[in-house]
Amino acid sequence: MTVLSRVYDFARQYRYLLIVLLICSSGVGGWYLFAFRRPINSDSPTALRPDPPTPDPRVTFPTPFRNVRPGVKYLGDASCAGCHSTISGTYHAHPMGRSAEWVSHKGANGILLAGANNPFTVAEYTLQVKKEGDRIIHRMSAPNESKLPAYIMPIDLVIGSGTHGRSYLTVDRGSVWQSPISWYHEGQRWDVSPGIDLGTNSRRPVTSDCLHCHVNQSEAIPNALNRYSESLLTHQANIGCERCHGPGELHVAERSGSSTYPNPDYSIVNPKHLPSDLKTDICRQCHLQGQAQIPRRGRALSEYRPGLPWDQFATTAIPNPELADYRKAVGQFEQMERSKCITASGESLLCTNCHDPHFKPPSENREAYFRARCVNCHDTKRCSLPLPERQAKNDSCIVCHMPQKDSSNIVHTAITDHRIMKRSDDGRPRSQMLLPSQFPIALYRAGPHAPPPEERERDWAIALGFEIGRGSQGGSSERWSLTKAKFDSALERWPGDAAAWGALAEAYRGRGETTNALKAAKNAAGLCPDGETYLMGLAVIAQTSGEHELAIATANKLIDMNPLNPDHLLLRGTTYASLKQWRAVEADARAALAIHPLEPRAHLLLGLALNGSGNQAKGQDELDVALKLAPSSQTRSSLLKYWQQAR
Ligand code: HEC
Ligand code: HEC
Ligand code: HEC
Ligand code: HEC
Ligand code: HEC
Ligand code: HEC
Ligand code: HEC
Repeated sequence: MTVLSRVYDFARQYRYLLIVLLICSSGVGGWYLFAFRRPINSDSPTALRPDPPTPDPRVTFPTPFRNVRPGVKYLGDASCAGCHSTISGTYHAHPMGRSAEWVSHKGANGILLAGANNPFTVAEYTLQVKKEGDRIIHRMSAPNESKLPAYIMPIDLVIGSGTHGRSYLTVDRGSVWQSPISWYHEGQRWDVSPGIDLGTNSRRPVTSDCLHCHVNQSEAIPNALNRYSESLLTHQANIGCERCHGPGELHVAERSGSSTYPNPDYSIVNPKHLPSDLKTDICRQCHLQGQAQIPRRGRALSEYRPGLPWDQFATTAIPNPELADYRKAVGQFEQMERSKCITASGESLLCTNCHDPHFKPPSENREAYFRARCVNCHDTKRCSLPLPERQAKNDSCIVCHMPQKDSSNIVHTAITDHRIMKRSDDGRPRSQMLLPSQFPIALYRAGPHAPPPEERERDWAIALGFEIGRGSQGGSSERWSLTKAKFDSALERWPGDAAAWGALAEAYRGRGETTNALKAAKNAAGLCPDGETYLMGLAVIAQTSGEHELAIATANKLIDMNPLNPDHLLLRGTTYASLKQWRAVEADARAALAIHPLEPRAHLLLGLALNGSGNQAKGQDELDVALKLAPSSQTRSSLLKYWQQAR
């Protein structure tokens, strides 16, 4: 089974499974009923019930701001522009004000077609960006002689202002997918998207975390992998005013037609009036990505409102600070934590000490602009380097103390060094090995409104569980027993916590303990029978443990939920292949190829099916196609191994 699970290794491909593991309760009325009406785990040793809902900070957190409460409506940027025209103008020129755009938007064409390296080739594939009729499409094709149809993605939504790059998404009947083609600012060129392996995930599901940071609003279906309700991006695509100020309904109603206003005005959040931790949390919801944001028990990231503590909505797992390379591998937040400017000024150094979120200084002014920010604090504690040496660098504080990395192509880690060191080569990484008792990931420090320690331990267990599931650094038995203890105490306290069971299942699976993995996955899916992500975990583990019937029943549900995901079809197809039910294998392989004609694994399954039903020659042809489409020798050899084993 090892080969099979390598080819279909969901955990490794789906880093995002973790992120979308919201708790089952959020927003799903009547899920108690569901859990009992349609039990999926009838042979589960314990009949678990979902835990009672947790208090909603939008209701309970004490704050004078009235627009944090649920029910206050979002209106979109257009409703602010009339009264705040100056801020509105500069904000929409800032990269955040241009973070995403619908393709139908007029004027978008310029950013859709221009750029070098189009078409380009990767391994056997040719990738191309072009206009077809009135649509922009991304096209991926195999060599002509193979006569395979191309995989075509019509583009609906662009992510990224282009400061560093852009990703392209397609929205197909409510599910959202990322194109294997991206645009890179460096070289102004097209190339393959980061993290995309053309052999296994060239049709990559776009999970809710991605949209949470890059678009104004997105209504993810709870526990779905990449499905959204129809109101996806109701008002606008780009990050809007209300992501930092909260919903505008009360403020607009109260300001319209009234010439007097209170100050502070509690109808809307002005971050200026917030204590520093809550103010920084507004930026943190998107700028502290870390290793993963673990939604708190009972919460969804999208429930967060500016003015509330982010800690009550998510816990951030970060690389262990003892081991991380703080020069390059982390984001601005984690770097800032190391800066003397913050540690010595009692944490008063906020992102907004240097950045005006409404305004990006033009490049010719940036050195002077930031110098003024430094000097705000450094009027007494001045630079100790003699002035002539500084003047050689135009006395630009940031050129010497906040230098930039060479390549700006890598997003999601800081480009500008936010550690603000005396010398940029200070603070080299400690070349320390992970000790058996150390964890590869830690939790970002708890703020003043963090939940009690046992809740954070639960979040940590979930992050570690997925880390072990990915097969990275779970190895030592000491580390595993410490992780297991965290799971045990969390699940004893909250036995109805589907997310914790799901993460435990992943950890067991990563360790090869399939019996335990199956038990935990059944619990998770039993608690959340409509949760696509839990069902995916269950189906994979059921398949690996030889529980074919359960694997097929679970895959059936997945295909009903998300018929456009070829992975669900492949999952069922491989299970049928273990049962040598070749007709069923053929049907699933063909259905997957109808969605993605260049999916090597689908060609392989089709080959197996044809071969199994006596058509050896055609079977061999499909095998050859699959091997040809595999972009690396590693994928080729695992496909071949699977073929030999499954035949
Ligand atoms: C009908 C006019 C009007 C509209 C529409 C309007 N505002 Fe205001 N807003 C005002 C006025 C007047 C003030 C007080 C003076 C000022 O700060 O400009 C104000 C103040 C604010 C403040 C500062 C509050 C404080 O206590 O310091 C914020 C933040 C704000 N508005 C955001 C928004 C956002 C976001 C929108 C769109 C959802 C919006 N406004 C729509 C008129 C309006
Ligand atoms: C809703 C998510 C979100 C929030 C909230 C948010 N940001 Fe951003 N920010 C982004 C994204 C996404 C980008 C990259 C936009 C792009 O280039 O497409 C970005 C870019 C930036 C940049 C880089 C601009 C440049 O020159 O390229 C700065 C600086 C920044 N944000 C500061 C802040 C500050 C300060 C706050 C808090 C007051 C904040 N952001 C809140 C998502 C967010
Ligand atoms: C935790 C929030 C977060 C998540 C999740 C996230 N991003 Fe980002 N992304 C950011 C921020 C913030 C920036 C700007 C960072 C910077 O400049 O350092 C950014 C930058 C980018 C850029 C470059 C934008 C530009 O114009 O330069 C692209 C493209 C991008 N992200 C795509 C994605 C895609 C696709 C996903 C999902 C698969 C994703 N991001 C997930 C926060 C996030
Ligand atoms: C990325 C976060 C972010 C976004 C997006 C954002 N703002 Fe702000 N806004 C802030 C912060 C932070 C402050 C407080 C700055 C300070 O500390 O003085 C602020 C302050 C304000 C104020 C009060 C100004 C004052 O002098 O006190 C107004 C009005 C305002 N914003 C309007 C808007 C409007 C309108 C939009 C959309 C066009 C918008 N903001 C988008 C973060 C944001
Ligand atoms: C909110 C106030 C604040 C701002 C803004 C600020 N700093 Fe600092 N910075 C400090 C404090 C406080 C210290 C610690 C001084 C001490 O050691 O006594 C410090 C220390 C430093 C150090 C010494 C670091 C070390 O390792 O010893 C450098 C270099 C520095 N700052 C540069 C800058 C530069 C460059 C900027 C602008 C880009 C800046 N600072 C902005 C408050 C600030
Ligand atoms: C001491 C000043 C200072 C502080 C505080 C600061 N930044 Fe920056 N930041 C900069 C400078 C300088 C740049 C480079 C800007 C440029 O090149 O135009 C930058 C660039 C960025 C960028 C663009 C990507 C990159 O790495 O170059 C992002 C995103 C960003 N900062 C986010 C943040 C966030 C989030 C915080 C709060 C955790 C923060 N910054 C705090 C000075 C600061
Ligand atoms: C040419 C590069 C360069 C420029 C420009 C520069 N610095 Fe420095 N700065 C240095 C170096 C190098 C040191 C360490 C000198 C030493 O070992 O005493 C330093 C030291 C410092 C320190 C620590 C002082 C101490 O007593 O420990 C601060 C604070 C500082 N710089 C702030 C600034 C600010 C603010 C600016 C802009 C007004 C600035 N620097 C401009 C290179 C520079």
